Amino acid sequence: MTVKVRSFAKINLGLHIGAKRADGFHELLTVYQTIGLHDVIRVSVERGNGIEIRCEDPRVPKDESNTCFRIVERAMDKLRARRRIVVEIAKRLPVQGGLGGASSNAVAAMLGLERALKKSLGREERLGIAAEVGSDLPLFLIGGTVLGVGRGEQVYPLEDSPVLHCVVVTPEIGVPTPKAFAEWDRRIALGPKPMAPSVPDAALKGRSPTLNSSTSKLTVDSVSDRINELSRGLSAWLSEAFLSQADSGAPVRGRAENPLLALVRAGIENDFEQVVFPEYPELREVKRALVRAGAKYASLSGSGSTLYGLFASRVDAVHAAARLTEQGWTAQATATLTRTQYWRRIFGR
Ligand code: C5P
Repeated sequence: MTVKVRSFAKINLGLHIGAKRADGFHELLTVYQTIGLHDVIRVSVERGNGIEIRCEDPRVPKDESNTCFRIVERAMDKLRARRRIVVEIAKRLPVQGGLGGASSNAVAAMLGLERALKKSLGREERLGIAAEVGSDLPLFLIGGTVLGVGRGEQVYPLEDSPVLHCVVVTPEIGVPTPKAFAEWDRRIALGPKPMAPSVPDAALKGRSPTLNSSTSKLTVDSVSDRINELSRGLSAWLSEAFLSQADSGAPVRGRAENPLLALVRAGIENDFEQVVFPEYPELREVKRALVRAGAKYASLSGSGSTLYGLFASRVDAVHAAARLTEQGWTAQATATLTRTQYWRRIFGR
């Protein structure tokens, strides 16, 4: 039996890097947003044992280092299932591109595996396995607009942002995330940097009492009023920012009295730009090109190399993508996916 699953990409609407932790990871504050671009994953269950990864893209590892391999191995173990599993990845998203492709592929493989085996993992088991495989996997178990804290694996569903029309530019550059974090640390060591804001503890109170020790910090069933308030603030700010801001990149300041500032800031800046742009100047050029093509807001996604621009309408986004393509960039127009659209389309036709 073969199950087909769409594996959607994410962008980061702001990303603040905080302190390096004892375990080597960095504290993060980010807002993830799922978008319409996707890979296609096919999971087949066959007689026998073992896991096989198939992908025509030579840059995708086929061995046990592949995120799909790692998640299937863990899920099979938890499900106590013994079969031969084949995962086929039809790759369209960039590799090491900042769109969460490998993470999304893994979550799609786990969801496909459950369907193919007609067995189900528990919600918390799924989240636990996802977080074990990588920091930005759990977001794909929520979809839509998602607050990410901790090392990025603690995820909170936010009220969906309004549908944003975007252009995604994928330069032929792979930025290794650990290298970008290392460069950030090197810069921090050179001089004092303002610490990234964190969501006040109070905002994360009110977690579901059903969540227990191992996964209690991963996500929440019913979000607190505080998170809802933050979420509405972000949503309102985003609409205002991308519809009325004349040029990109310039964050709206002077709102220090606003308790939503920390989250709103996370919605408008990506700290990785400070280390990735000096290393790959071409990416700064792409951001400028997006703004020249009419983006109301443009940013690096994750540690790059993908950049995206937000546009006031679909027509603007389509025109901008055409213009950027003429200029020689690989550009695609797409739109953000709400949580409902995301889940409807994962298994849809
Ligand atoms: O969790 P993931 O496997 O995606 O992380 C890859 C690498 O990125 C980690 O080994 C670590 O070097 C770095 N990282 C980090 N802080 C985070 C997330 C990732 O330093 N919050």
